[in-house]
Amino acid sequence: MGLPAIFAVAVMVAIAVVASEAKTTIEPCSGSDSCPALLGYTLYADMKVSEVAALFATDPSALLAANALDFAAPGAAHRILPMGLFLRVPTRCACADGVRKSVAVRYAARPADTLATVADVVFAGLASADQIRGANGLADADADAPLDAGQRLVVPLPCVCFNSSDSNLPAVYLSYVVQVGDTVPAIAAAYETTVTDVMNVNAMGSPVAAPGDILAIPLPACASSFPKTASDHGLLVANGTYALTAGNCVQCSCGPGNLNLYCTPASLSGSCPSTQCSNSNVLLGNASTHATSAGCNVSSCTYGGFVNGTITTLLNTGLQPTCPGPHQVPLLTDPPTTVNRDYSTSLAPLSAPVPTEAGGVMAEPPPKSSEHGGSFTLPKVSPTHGPAGSVSGAPPPPMSKPRRILSGFILCLLLQHFHV
Ligand SMILES: *[C@@H]1O[C@H](CO)[C@@H](O)[C@H](O)[C@H]1NC(C)=O
Ligand SMILES: *[C@@H]1O[C@H](CO)[C@@H](O)[C@H](O)[C@H]1NC(C)=O
Ligand SMILES: *[C@@H]1O[C@H](CO)[C@@H](O)[C@H](O)[C@H]1NC(C)=O
Ligand SMILES: *[C@@H]1O[C@H](CO)[C@@H](O)[C@H](O)[C@H]1NC(C)=O
Ligand SMILES: *[C@@H]1O[C@H](CO)[C@@H](O)[C@H](O)[C@H]1NC(C)=O
Repeated sequence: MGLPAIFAVAVMVAIAVVASEAKTTIEPCSGSDSCPALLGYTLYADMKVSEVAALFATDPSALLAANALDFAAPGAAHRILPMGLFLRVPTRCACADGVRKSVAVRYAARPADTLATVADVVFAGLASADQIRGANGLADADADAPLDAGQRLVVPLPCVCFNSSDSNLPAVYLSYVVQVGDTVPAIAAAYETTVTDVMNVNAMGSPVAAPGDILAIPLPACASSFPKTASDHGLLVANGTYALTAGNCVQCSCGPGNLNLYCTPASLSGSCPSTQCSNSNVLLGNASTHATSAGCNVSSCTYGGFVNGTITTLLNTGLQPTCPGPHQVPLLTDPPTTVNRDYSTSLAPLSAPVPTEAGGVMAEPPPKSSEHGGSFTLPKVSPTHGPAGSVSGAPPPPMSKPRRILSGFILCLLLQHFHV
């Protein structure tokens, strides 16, 4: 763990000192690997599940699964989510220009959009006007000037990987935009972590964060051990949630009882191959048990990754002292229709245990396209930074525009210092 962690922390300290306004935890990187990460997003208006998914270039089912919302319910992608709802948006955390960031999102400007409203309202503070300006070569653009309607913008979003671990345990990192009224102890408590851990991860000198700062919050997760040849190599699922994989034919969950990844068949796409372990009659995620005088002979069928378009299964047999009961999985709930604006409930732990259920009712196939821009409509943003037509909402705070300064100079110094 030693050097890379110290290196990352040193850079973050440097960044934190340099940044005078909103701070973001930045992780230097090299190479082309990526990791799963989560973006904490607060809806600025009522939006359909599919609209939020399109905004972040993700799949509606994946978005629901990452929030333990019922992704298999008919019409789930078209459900309307309420303004102010806090969601975890799954993203791919890549390595670009030497730092970790999510770079898949493209946004087509609408009339009356400005760099500032896109950053602060549409992306709810996850992006900054400066960063969007930089990523699109708009050096001279005024953050408050209307953009050309239809103008396509790259919207870089903050994320970290930190080796997908925290204190040597698997973790997926959530990029959390600090809200007015948040305190670091309350954020730590809401995510069942400690102030010390949040401070360490974010290289904070004191347990204080300002509205608009973006903290990396480690969430305990279930790791996978799929081979490098698997297209879902590195799959990581946060405790209490689900992920869909293998072309939406397999669903993997994490928790609540333990942090062992648990995968079962999912048939969201309607045309999924059989998921029976070869040389057995056991289906993926299931076990056959035989009580013997020596104990319980268990044969369980587990998921081994999506390799060359094939669902790989592994049959594990072994003697256990007692036969295992049904697997506990995180509870899936219906998408909420209202938001309790109480801070603590918006972050509340996601799930309670329920017994596994076999199979699932089919939903319509999810839209495959991840490109958007003009292909769907989003709620309008009024020039006054508020959702159009809202009366009682909690529009994003009129905070100082997040401004993240990445000092290339300091990075270079540190890179030389640590990496040679
Ligand atoms: C990354 O995590 C793995 C286990 O999750 C560990 O074996 C490895 O040493 C870690 N690498 C670094 C650079 O910390
Ligand atoms: C996982 O979440 C459950 C609640 O869903 C909680 O009881 C459990 O302690 C969590 N496990 C870890 C390691 O955080
Ligand atoms: C356990 O069951 C498997 C198949 O169900 C069998 O091949 C194996 O011999 C059994 N082992 C023991 C110790 O009974
Ligand atoms: C995957 O398919 C390609 C060609 O289709 C083949 O060359 C390769 O060996 C396959 N890999 C595995 C792991 O089966
Ligand atoms: C799991 O196995 C049990 C007993 O063999 C069977 O009744 C059940 O339908 C199976 N469930 C799944 C999801 O395969």
